[in-house]
Amino acid sequence: MDQYVIKGGIPLRGEVSISGAKNSALGIIAATALLDEPVTITNVPEIRDIEVLLRAMEGIGARIDRKDAHTVRINAKGVSPLALDNEYLRKIRGSYYLIGALLGRFKKAQVVLPGGCDIGPRPIDQHIKGFEKLGAVVEIKHGMVMAEAKALCGNHIYLDMASVGATINIMLAAVLAEGQTIIENTAKEPHVVDVANFLNSMGANIKGAGTDVIRITGVDKLHSTTYSIIPDQIEAGTFMIAAAATKGDVVIKNVIPKHLEAITAKLVEIGVGVEELDDAVRVYSNERCGNTHIKTLPYPGFPTDMQAQMVALLVLSNGTSVITEGIFENRFKYVDELIRMGASIKVEGNTAVVDGVEGLTGAMLSASDLRAGAALVIAGLTAEGITTVENIEFIERGYERFEDKIGKLGGIIKKMDSEDERALRKFRLKVC
Ligand code: EPU
Repeated sequence: MDQYVIKGGIPLRGEVSISGAKNSALGIIAATALLDEPVTITNVPEIRDIEVLLRAMEGIGARIDRKDAHTVRINAKGVSPLALDNEYLRKIRGSYYLIGALLGRFKKAQVVLPGGCDIGPRPIDQHIKGFEKLGAVVEIKHGMVMAEAKALCGNHIYLDMASVGATINIMLAAVLAEGQTIIENTAKEPHVVDVANFLNSMGANIKGAGTDVIRITGVDKLHSTTYSIIPDQIEAGTFMIAAAATKGDVVIKNVIPKHLEAITAKLVEIGVGVEELDDAVRVYSNERCGNTHIKTLPYPGFPTDMQAQMVALLVLSNGTSVITEGIFENRFKYVDELIRMGASIKVEGNTAVVDGVEGLTGAMLSASDLRAGAALVIAGLTAEGITTVENIEFIERGYERFEDKIGKLGGIIKKMDSEDERALRKFRLKVC
């Protein structure tokens, strides 16, 4: 198994370019199953979750042509809607978007229930409610979601919570339905808007994405398109926090500053310098940051996917911070790892109370999920001495060449086999 070995204490400096958004790419790639014509997608992030979804699509009959590292042409003409199960589909959350896409196209879909990061229960009742409102009969049997409709007809759907997954999945099922679908209390995340823009570029008629109400007028057919995915707001936020935590100075390029406003506002509040440029942000700091209170919320609130990284910064703050997780039930698993580095954190229910300390010390750590893994890397970059982070396959699910990007900013981080003690000794000798 691979691990990251990090020598902390070096401020990150320079420029880093952000890749395409993972959670947009998952929705957009699955949405290509809606039509039997080829679609070209650019700015596709080169990360494990996308590789897995592309393999899953190939496994069910889609033709995948990789034009270059970030461009893929997908032709889903040969895809069948029935009994879709393969090792790849089971691994990732995004495979559930195939239910909406195939139901929309074939009026039936049988797809294995999705996997994804273990961050608490992740029900899909709102997705199912939406499909049923459109006229499908949905059952879960033998670990598969089975959905079928004589015809899909537009309807009025009110989501109990602003779920990203349900909003996207219902849009996918509704674009080819008869008549108008109105979805209320929808998620407003940038990736929801990106998927809607992609569908519109294929001839769909979706209005209101990015607001609380999405109106979809069904069309008869979608057509081929070429589409570029937006930058990943969470990868950008992760580098913003890494810059602040290491007291560095980093220009984070290829971002949409508007998508980063909740993160920017918190950083500014605790004394970190943030300069917004056209399609970049500069983040700099040279002193211990202040404390704050944060509650994770649906967009435009502070994102749950940035909670762990923010805690990795606040453990070094001057004061006590209170962080409340408002989206998932079990997203503080990484806290024990930070405590092993000397952090002072108490978790009660969905709230963590962080008493800032002056410094962390390197330790042997294990990532429990994607964002937790990124937070441990940030902590390692600030710590005195060597930190190892195991289970980095979680990090590779969502961060493209994370160690290369950090290395180019001057951070000392190396990916190596956790069994390779010689490589570890060599690294220690070189950096200590
Ligand atoms: N929920 C339900 N029923 C549903 C759907 C959601 O109760 O039918 C609940 C969830 O349990 C959760 C809340 O509603 O408490 C929000 O869940 P949402 O559906 O918005 O999340 P998701 O679609 O499962 C996506 C991202 C996550 C990100 C969340 C929130 C993908 C593939 N995943 O998950 O990304 O944290 O939205 O923004 O898009 C990550 O990238 O690290 C990650 C976990």
